[in-house]
Amino acid sequence: MSDNIATLEVNGEKHEFPIIKGTENEIAIDIKKLRGATGGVITIDPGYKNTGSCESAITFLDGEKGVLRYRGYAIEDLAEKADFLEVAYLLIFGELPTSEQLEKFHKDIKKESVVDDDVKKILDAFPKSAHPMGVLASLTNALTAFNPSSVNVDSEEDMYKAIVKILGKFPVLVAWTMRKKQGLPLDYGDSSLGYVENVLKMMFKQPNEEYSLNPIVVNALDKLLILHADHEQNCSTSTVRIVGSSHAGLFASLAAGISALWGPLHGGANQAVLEMLEGIRQDGGDTKKYMAKAKDKSDPFRLMGFGHRVYKNFDPRATIIKVAADEVLGDLGVEDPILDIAKGLEQEALQDSYFVDRKLYPNVDFYSGIIYRAMGIPTEMFTVMFALGRLPGWISQWREMRLRKEPIGRPRQVYVGENHRNFKNISDR
Ligand code: CMC
Repeated sequence: MSDNIATLEVNGEKHEFPIIKGTENEIAIDIKKLRGATGGVITIDPGYKNTGSCESAITFLDGEKGVLRYRGYAIEDLAEKADFLEVAYLLIFGELPTSEQLEKFHKDIKKESVVDDDVKKILDAFPKSAHPMGVLASLTNALTAFNPSSVNVDSEEDMYKAIVKILGKFPVLVAWTMRKKQGLPLDYGDSSLGYVENVLKMMFKQPNEEYSLNPIVVNALDKLLILHADHEQNCSTSTVRIVGSSHAGLFASLAAGISALWGPLHGGANQAVLEMLEGIRQDGGDTKKYMAKAKDKSDPFRLMGFGHRVYKNFDPRATIIKVAADEVLGDLGVEDPILDIAKGLEQEALQDSYFVDRKLYPNVDFYSGIIYRAMGIPTEMFTVMFALGRLPGWISQWREMRLRKEPIGRPRQVYVGENHRNFKNISDR
């Protein structure tokens, strides 16, 4: 490999491929011409552990150093100094907004935050036992039917309209998903409030009481949403990009992303962590027993909230959330024994060679559920909250993919099935 050329030898023949470098000096071999040059040879990389699917200018992360930046800004600064809507604007449009831009953005979102009342009929059809992520994915897809005009991606105005529409309507769907399960009336929030404040009011307002906002809760939710807002080409984001690459609309692409997020190896981990910690508590709090289970290869149990495909040192989001968990529980006066169990597990794992050798550290989901629980959010809603946070990331990645006119995503495969066989009539089988 020279500075800008990589040479690959296939069947004794050498082929040269350009090397591209990102702005943070990440190096990639550009194999776009591989099949043509080699007469059909492809690369294979299940799980895409070594494969870049795109060039992107949105989020940078360095898994070895525990660095995460949105559009160049450190996650630590954004979590401390910005609010969620500012971060959403930054992710989607590339720059931090001025006060006028932010005000207009919020005003435009508020204008779009009414969901067609008929959506309630769809919601009515779900059983109370339905998982909120399934309901949210379905309702997001249903928005496509209620807002059928397709987005002209060559028109900035059209793109903008679709973006403010989903940013306005999605929190309503999030709140309705939770309230329906709890048998509470469905409501449209209060457009005099900030974005995050309105989310909380829509979720928690009781029909017979005034709702008063708790600044500690507002601040904690704002921070959690910022920390979840984007994470480059993870499973759900790649799903949004690949679905959108067929020119499916924004809402349909987002609905697919929600389904991808649901799995316990991805966003579903925050629910799984809480259930695991609760299970350990009910089983007497013996963390050593569960550490042993996690290390036992014949046991399917994994320490949920540990490990990450990219972070192999620490997850900077987890560091911020751990401090926030202490603060929020302290400020709210909540004593939760599972916080101690979580800290105990982390302490043990950090000293255990199984976890140290495999570079398994707490990830963003290890402590987030503890904060959600302290806020009164039901466990099954945790991944929905993750989706609310990830929404601007998905939108920005979809927008970038469409603006760059990326080709339809269509991986190749290596076929390992039967060779040609003669058809056998049913009587001969
Ligand atoms: N508990 C026990 N062992 C683990 C864990 C864990 N949580 N995570 C990884 N390992 C082991 C795994 O068994 C394997 O061991 P060996 O080399 O002996 O076969 C090794 O560590 C490497 O694991 P992997 O599954 O090949 O790593 P991956 O990069 O494919 O998976 C992961 C990353 C996040 C899916 C995985 O670490 C995991 O399942 N963690 C638990 C679920 C979780 O917390 N997910 C949230 C991720 S962060 C938020 C998000 O992205 O949505």
